[in-house]
Amino acid sequence: MSEADPQNIPAHVAIVMDGNGRWAQQRGLSRQEGHRKGVEALRQIVRDAGAEGIGHLTVFSFSTQNWGRPKLEVNFLMSLLQRYIESDLAELHSEGVRVRILGRRTGLSDKICQLIDRAETLTADNTNMYLQIAFNYGAREEIADAASRLARRAAAGTLDAAAITPEILDAEMLTGGMPDPDLIIRTSGEYRLSNFLLWQSAYTEFYFTDTLWPDFDREALKSAIDFYAKRDRRFGMLSAQASEAD
Ligand code: FPP
Repeated sequence: MSEADPQNIPAHVAIVMDGNGRWAQQRGLSRQEGHRKGVEALRQIVRDAGAEGIGHLTVFSFSTQNWGRPKLEVNFLMSLLQRYIESDLAELHSEGVRVRILGRRTGLSDKICQLIDRAETLTADNTNMYLQIAFNYGAREEIADAASRLARRAAAGTLDAAAITPEILDAEMLTGGMPDPDLIIRTSGEYRLSNFLLWQSAYTEFYFTDTLWPDFDREALKSAIDFYAKRDRRFGMLSAQASEAD
């Protein structure tokens, strides 16, 4: 730990938005209400992250394991993504946000796939901020899919299997071309990564807060940024070497 450096803003922040259900339960509301409030928090945090100078924001909205939840909740989460894109795409585009949905398309309705395509195509040239929504995403699945694509190339003779490097694998990830997350935030007092960005988080700083996702606001984001600003990142080297390599 060192002193906070106000210039030290994480370029890429990723968030496990956890605690919607408990937020609702504490208020005697349905889990659906919690998720609805979760979308409101997300909408605001995208704006706040931009205002705080964060270039990349990646949020975990639906994991490949979430299919195991009751069908009603799964359908509701699907409809939330659909409504979020329908209602917010124009604003995101006008703010110069590039939107990408990270995850498998398998299992998603044609309607959602079309909306995802529309969002990604419309915003493809935007560069003010990059918003990645991990939806139907699992990190192990992402790694397995990347390995599978490389294996097929090797079998076809277009890739030397013995020459596969971390850089080659990295480029095959759904996040290919993006910087690794500098900071991963998980809300609601859980201390797990839950199959999120396993490959990309080798040197990521982690910030855990008891705040439930629907209550996560700009002040909470600033606390996380402040925590990050005090970290001494060494990437496996000594401090002086790491800052030279920066
Ligand atoms: C975990 O909280 C949260 C999720 C599984 C979904 C996160 C989704 C949102 C924040 C809104 C959806 C946004 C889009 C764009 C689709 P939990 O329900 O597991 O909460 P709990 O652990 O308190 O039960």
